[in-house]
Amino acid sequence: MNQDSSAATHPGDIHRLLLSGPLAEQVAERLGTAYPGLETRVVSQGPPSSDDLAWADAYTGFRLPEGFERSAIVWVHAMMAGVDALAPALRDLPRPVLLTRTVGDMPRKMGLYVLAYALADAHHLAEYREQQADRVWRPLDAPRTGGALATILGTGEIGAGVAEALQGAGFDTCGVNRTGHEHPAFSRVAAATDPNAVPRETNVLVNTLPLTLETTGSIGMSIFGRVEGALFINVGRGASVAMDDLRRALELGHLRHAVLDVLPTEPPPADAWYWDHPQVTLTPHIAAVTDAGDVARSLSAALDDLRSGRTPESSVDLARGY
Ligand code: GLV
Repeated sequence: MNQDSSAATHPGDIHRLLLSGPLAEQVAERLGTAYPGLETRVVSQGPPSSDDLAWADAYTGFRLPEGFERSAIVWVHAMMAGVDALAPALRDLPRPVLLTRTVGDMPRKMGLYVLAYALADAHHLAEYREQQADRVWRPLDAPRTGGALATILGTGEIGAGVAEALQGAGFDTCGVNRTGHEHPAFSRVAAATDPNAVPRETNVLVNTLPLTLETTGSIGMSIFGRVEGALFINVGRGASVAMDDLRRALELGHLRHAVLDVLPTEPPPADAWYWDHPQVTLTPHIAAVTDAGDVARSLSAALDDLRSGRTPESSVDLARGY
């Protein structure tokens, strides 16, 4: 037990870590005694109290607790990969706070989710179930994945995981990022500023972009209008998509189906058009969920880096928002 009660002023000096939320207990158990001098406090149920916040110099959870701005916490580790719910609030604080995030096994999990839906679509799994229900025995087009093109918006760790999974099934992959810089996980990469970045021959269009001011509402007709009959899969954030444009793109045939794991509001309102649109498949934000192992490993990696004076690889650029 560390008796030092002085507040850390730098993330490298932290010694009181507050863990909050449903994974808190398991993460604390996994950290165990690996970090001498690090005390942990777990709040599994409900929000941390003002006393918890005053005690801590580091915090990990899924969201920022109320009153966070009055604490002296200098390091926040997000238990998830997307930090749109944390970064803007931390950026606006008068004191510097380091934000790191959990990626863990997410790229592989996301890759499997996208691959599952891309294959289900190519193999007409839903249509065969419908045909069976109607006692119809009719072969549909042979599946085409070998050489089919998947265009992935975002070439970060998650985009790369998705590209790797799709490549394993024979897809060609085109990545789209801010500058068009190459990435080994993609057959080719285009810059988002290039109006032709999304190739017309795209069969599967996947969004993995982080949600920032720049990406909010950025996936609309200018992108959907480029493709003809593509499958759209959103595993990034719902608010990146202009939902009215998505509906229009489905109606005009630019998209043949949309698989949405994320929506602008979750859960969506009962009267949202996409609940019962025949060309929309919804899943409740489960494409890739971080577990306690993912969080503990990434938290430990960040702690190791901080204690050795390195900037953790999982650090978020607060100005950029990811
Ligand atoms: C899930 O959406 C995450 O950001 O980890």
